[in-house]
Amino acid sequence: RHMEIYNDLSALGSEITKLTGISRIIVVKGDADESPETQVHLGVEAGRCLQSLLSPNTTVTVTGGSSTASMASHLASVPFDVTFTPARGGLGEDMIHQANFIVAKMAEYTGGRYEALYVPDQVSEQTYQNLIQEPAIHSVLDQIKSADIVVHGIGNANKMANRRKTDAAVKKLLHEKAAVGEAFGYYFDKKGNIVYKVRTIGLQREDVMTKKHIIAVAGGASKATAIAAYLKIAPEQTVLITDEAVAKQLLKAF
Ligand code: BG6
Repeated sequence: RHMEIYNDLSALGSEITKLTGISRIIVVKGDADESPETQVHLGVEAGRCLQSLLSPNTTVTVTGGSSTASMASHLASVPFDVTFTPARGGLGEDMIHQANFIVAKMAEYTGGRYEALYVPDQVSEQTYQNLIQEPAIHSVLDQIKSADIVVHGIGNANKMANRRKTDAAVKKLLHEKAAVGEAFGYYFDKKGNIVYKVRTIGLQREDVMTKKHIIAVAGGASKATAIAAYLKIAPEQTVLITDEAVAKQLLKAF
């Protein structure tokens, strides 16, 4: 393919949108791995995309990660009620990567509300069953399931497993099953087969499938394989905000 014709990023975006079959791919200049500016642009574009979908009483459920975090600070105040919920319970991440922290930021910037979800990472089946019966937790879970919009990141399987301090047995399994990517706690291989799922409450893949709006934000050449794999199973209503480095790899992969 003649990549030189894609100096125009929106043409590149349209081309890979067609190839991948999702709703829309927005491409920002550069490579987020190399340039902090590109990382900022991803946040700006993703923020703009979310902002355009907000209307009175919109509910948004958001995963953790540095990409969703960078979008939070680019949201502007809205003159109506919106509510943000963390998409899933504890996934073992550091505080700054946690969805609870990011939804608080999003609520601060939009002037909206947020709900926190306090779920420990490793709980027994019994504790888990008891927790989901708790009225406070139950009510947040209902809001997550009924949210109008999902915002999530896409990560590298290895990187995410390390960041979450995943135990050795699970890491071995991810390796054996050739996991390449991860999104909202689901790990998948190159073909998009789900090979492992972090057990926690909140948004499940079947809930994502039925959402009206899904915004995925992920960039950086090192994530290209993960993103290409995820796009094989991404619901078609997904809008992806990514960068040029990934977009060029997608052009080759599809
Ligand atoms: C996690 C999300 O917190 O962050 C995942 O649950 C996502 O959906 C991951 O894959 C990506 O993190 P980052 O920092 O690369 O945006």
